[in-house]
Amino acid sequence: MGKILVVRGDITRERTDAIVNAANCSLLGGGGVDGAIHRAAGPRLLDECRTLGGCRTGEAKITGGYDLPAKHVIHTPGPIWHGGERGEDALLRSCYLNSLRLASENGCKTVAFPSISTGVYHFPLERAAEIAIAAIRDYLAAHEEIEEVRMVCFDGFTQRCYQAALDAAEGR
Ligand code: AR6
Repeated sequence: MGKILVVRGDITRERTDAIVNAANCSLLGGGGVDGAIHRAAGPRLLDECRTLGGCRTGEAKITGGYDLPAKHVIHTPGPIWHGGERGEDALLRSCYLNSLRLASENGCKTVAFPSISTGVYHFPLERAAEIAIAAIRDYLAAHEEIEEVRMVCFDGFTQRCYQAALDAAEGR
């Protein structure tokens, strides 16, 4: 089974085959990690995104990486947290699974994720980390073609939450 690593850093520096963007449904850019990815990829990324017709929450679309070290960007709009009664958990899980499915279909062996929905979309961090780690583990167990998934956390608290979720899932 492919391995999962939790690291601290800036996802725009990752040299994986694909990096995932915590986008919004317009796919036309925004703040947070989305803004950072568009700045680092250059304007051709937005040109390609304009051709995609947006994306539903929990689904995913792929583009080139342009000026990024990563070959591809997989854009997935995470759920906005409304208290947990509006299908947020299942939608967040779908973001991870649909992104990994697109990675497989496009020959990507290494994928880097940011912490989807836990910034301006306010999904509770510990809950998001458990969902993310469970989804990634379930996918890797069934898909040998993905060799490594990196959870790239921008701050220490986020990193600790994902590392704790990974340790718990792996029985450490
Ligand atoms: N590398 C890795 N993680 C980062 C980076 C980076 N360069 N920059 C920020 N983060 P957010 P969301 C972390 O708000 O909650 C955008 O405007 C950040 O610290 O970027 O899914 C979109 O267009 C946090 O841990 O995404 C949408 O409108 C995590 O990335 C909306 O925000 C996610 O925070 C999506 O909101």
